[in-house]
Amino acid sequence: MLSLHAPTGPAWLEAVFADFGGFLVDHAACEKKAFSNGMSLVSRYPERQALVSELIEFSREELGHFALVHGFLVERGLVLARDATDEYARSLRTQVRPHGDATLCDRLLVAGIIEARSCERLGLLAQALPEREPALAEAYRDLVRAEARHHGLFFRLCRQEVGAEETERRADELLAFEADLVARLPLRAAVH
Ligand SMILES: [Fe+2]
Ligand SMILES: [Fe+2]
Repeated sequence: MLSLHAPTGPAWLEAVFADFGGFLVDHAACEKKAFSNGMSLVSRYPERQALVSELIEFSREELGHFALVHGFLVERGLVLARDATDEYARSLRTQVRPHGDATLCDRLLVAGIIEARSCERLGLLAQALPEREPALAEAYRDLVRAEARHHGLFFRLCRQEVGAEETERRADELLAFEADLVARLPLRAAVH
């Protein structure tokens, strides 16, 4: 169940295939950031044991994805890039309210929305790969299956920590912001 307000169009795929190596480098960075964000939430909320247990599993899975995509780079003679500011994630983070449970709520929802958009786009890519990059088709099909669980995980964790009503209300606001954001960001050979 993807709750995004605006779908990604086919022009994104063309931007990806215009520089597929650049896309793989960005995708590796995204998997690394997903891992780091999971561990950063563990550091920020160590006393919330149920949350921590789920985030450890999540981070472990994202670290596996990072290793996998890094392997694709090695096979193709590509190397990781230095961390650069991702305008998509940076803009979403500006919406995180600064105090108390509101911060936790927003951090979980922003993570869930980033996962939802990533899953949507990797799904589009996975459909195109058998024709465009057949060697990666099976691996991306498996990746999409894993990513499809992640956005649901963060929305569920948010309901668990701050309640269903606040989760739905705030998710609506953040999803509207995200739809405006993707409409104004340029398309590039990157996940976002
Ligand atoms: Fe991942
Ligand atoms: Fe993920």
